[in-house]
Amino acid sequence: MQEQEGAPSPISGGSCLTLAEFGPAEIWLILDEALRLKGLQKAGAPFQPLRGKTLAMIFQKPSNRTRVSFEVGMYQLGGHALPLSPQEIQMGRREATTDIAKTLARFADAIMARVFGHHEVEELAEAAGVPVINGLSDLHHPCQALADLLTIREELGSLEGAKVTYVGDGNNVAHSLALGCALTGAHLTIAHPEGHASDAGIIKLAGELGAAPTLTQDPREGVANAQVVYTDVWASMGQEAEAGERREKFAPYQVNEELMGYAAPGAIFLHCLPAHRGEEVTNEVIDGPQSRVFDQAENRMHAQKALLYLLLG
Ligand code: CP
Ligand code: NVA
Repeated sequence: MQEQEGAPSPISGGSCLTLAEFGPAEIWLILDEALRLKGLQKAGAPFQPLRGKTLAMIFQKPSNRTRVSFEVGMYQLGGHALPLSPQEIQMGRREATTDIAKTLARFADAIMARVFGHHEVEELAEAAGVPVINGLSDLHHPCQALADLLTIREELGSLEGAKVTYVGDGNNVAHSLALGCALTGAHLTIAHPEGHASDAGIIKLAGELGAAPTLTQDPREGVANAQVVYTDVWASMGQEAEAGERREKFAPYQVNEELMGYAAPGAIFLHCLPAHRGEEVTNEVIDGPQSRVFDQAENRMHAQKALLYLLLG
C-alpha cells in the first residue's frame, strides 16, 4: 500500500517530548493510526510512507524495547534507523548537545533520544529543526504512555472512564501515564510510598490537560476496583545506588496476587518492562492470566510507527 496523499498531518514537523505538546484530538489521531498500522502489519500489507527517511537514535542508557521497536518500526515504514551508543555520541562531553542536534539534523529526518536530564531532549529539540522524540528522560516516557493507552483501549474497549492504578515510584513512566490519562479521559490513581510522589508540576499539568491523578500512599485503597494495575521498577536507570534502600520502603507496594485481589474482576496487569521479578511484581502476576505486558511491549512499535508517520508525514 502507498502512503495517503493529501495535507500533512496536524502534528507534522513537531516533536514529542512529553505528550503535553498534543491535544486530545492529536492523541486520538495517533492511537487511531496505531491501530490502523497494526492491522496492516498483521495482515501482511506493506505500508512504506517513510522510504528514504532516517531516524537517528541517541542512547545514553540501555534499552531493549525502545531500540528494537524504533528500529523495526522504521524499517517497516520503509525508512532506516541509526542507533548511536553513549560511547559514540558522549552528549555534552565530546561536543555540545546543540551541536549534536544541528549535525544530526543535517543527516537524519528525525532524532529519537534516551537521556538522563529532561532538559537534554529540550535542548536537542530547540536546536535540531527536525522532529525530536523523547525515548525516555528522567521526567517523561511519552512513547511508553502511547503504548500503554493503546493497550488499555484494546483491552477495555475504551479509555474514557477507565480506572487505572499505578503502584510504586512516581517516576517518568507514572508522569507520562498521568498526562496520557488526562488527555484521554481515563481515571488514574497513583499509590506511592512517602517521599516518592510524582513531580508536583507534572501532576498540576495533568489537571490542566484534563484531570490530575488521585494520589494515595495506601496500595490497597489505590488498587480497589481498578481495571488496570500498572507498576514499574522501584529504582530507575541512574538510581541504582538507591536500590537497596528502596527495596525495603517499596515492599508493601509489590504487585502480587494478594494486591491484585483488590482490583476489579478481570483487571489486567501492565508493566513497561524491564521488570525486576520478585521486587515490584511477582512471577505469579507477571506470568499470570491477567498480565498483558508483552502485548503492551509490542504496542510500543505500533504506537511509535504512528507517531513517526504523523510527525514525518
Ligand atoms: N519500556 C522500555 O522503555 O523498555 P527499554 O528500556 O528496554 O527500552
Ligand atoms: N522508570 C524506568 C523505566 C524503564 C523503561 C527507568 O527510567 O529506568
